[in-house]
Amino acid sequence: MTVKTFFYGLIASFGVPWLVMLVVPYGSMRSMEPVRYDEINDERTDLFQAKRSGRTSNGSLVYAQEGCAMCHSQVTRPSYAGVDVFREGQGGTKSHPERGDTRRITHAWDFEREDRAHIGEARIGPDLGNFGNRLAALEVSENEATAVAMGVKIVKEDKSRLTQKEIIAALGDKAFDKELYLYKHLYNPREEGLNDPGDENAWSVCQSNPQFFKKVGNFGQGAATAVDVKDGQQVVANDRCKSLVNYLINLKKDGAVPYAMQYAKNKKKAGK
Ligand code: HEC
Repeated sequence: MTVKTFFYGLIASFGVPWLVMLVVPYGSMRSMEPVRYDEINDERTDLFQAKRSGRTSNGSLVYAQEGCAMCHSQVTRPSYAGVDVFREGQGGTKSHPERGDTRRITHAWDFEREDRAHIGEARIGPDLGNFGNRLAALEVSENEATAVAMGVKIVKEDKSRLTQKEIIAALGDKAFDKELYLYKHLYNPREEGLNDPGDENAWSVCQSNPQFFKKVGNFGQGAATAVDVKDGQQVVANDRCKSLVNYLINLKKDGAVPYAMQYAKNKKKAGK
């Protein structure tokens, strides 16, 4: 090998990935135009964009600062690159109670209004792109289980089922609290895992985050959202934690995509 070919090889091995992984994506994504739904096929005329603001956006920043993206991706890959779409709860749900099949791949527009697109570095923990939806589903199943255990009748005499609102009203403070559940997970992941709430998740390598909590005096009954109470002290979430939890609860990337952006051969028009 001559010195010349060595340098050509060196330039190519750094240059080609730089071109393909940085320059091309940057060129195509730095100024994306919003996509509009069209009236005939989608039966609506607003824009396809993630609506995110206030505390949720602050939470996105905390997510970036804490390095959550090192272990959690937020991308449902197209089916030529993986089986993500077919994993229940990852890219959406196969049979959503109101919207039917909501599974779809992730688009760049899903990260609208986030300073950084947290696509993730590795997938050591579960993909969080649709975590908000999974959490909502967990809330429903947990509430129903508690209702059954408490002897609340979910199915009424005329065979209709109680709605979630009615179940929550019947459960009172026994209802599943999504925020408290996440505070506990963030405080000590080894105690609160999503798949087995209450079970010990002793193996979890999700980081514990004492930096999100402060100790305050405990007077009276203590805060409903305290993750730990002992010796006249209680551990409660600070503002950064509340923003992060707000962000996590709102992680949903399964909204209907405009007809024009669907790649499938059997594209679906609205209402069909
Ligand atoms: C070292 C890798 C790692 C880091 C860093 C990490 N996690 Fe995790 N995370 C995991 C693993 C592994 C699991 C699965 C086990 C469990 O449920 O505890 C998990 C689970 C979760 C879950 C439950 C998700 C589900 O669908 O079951 C949430 C929510 C979560 N992590 C949020 C976070 C947040 C927020 C951060 C940043 C503050 C973070 N994680 C940082 C590895 C990590």
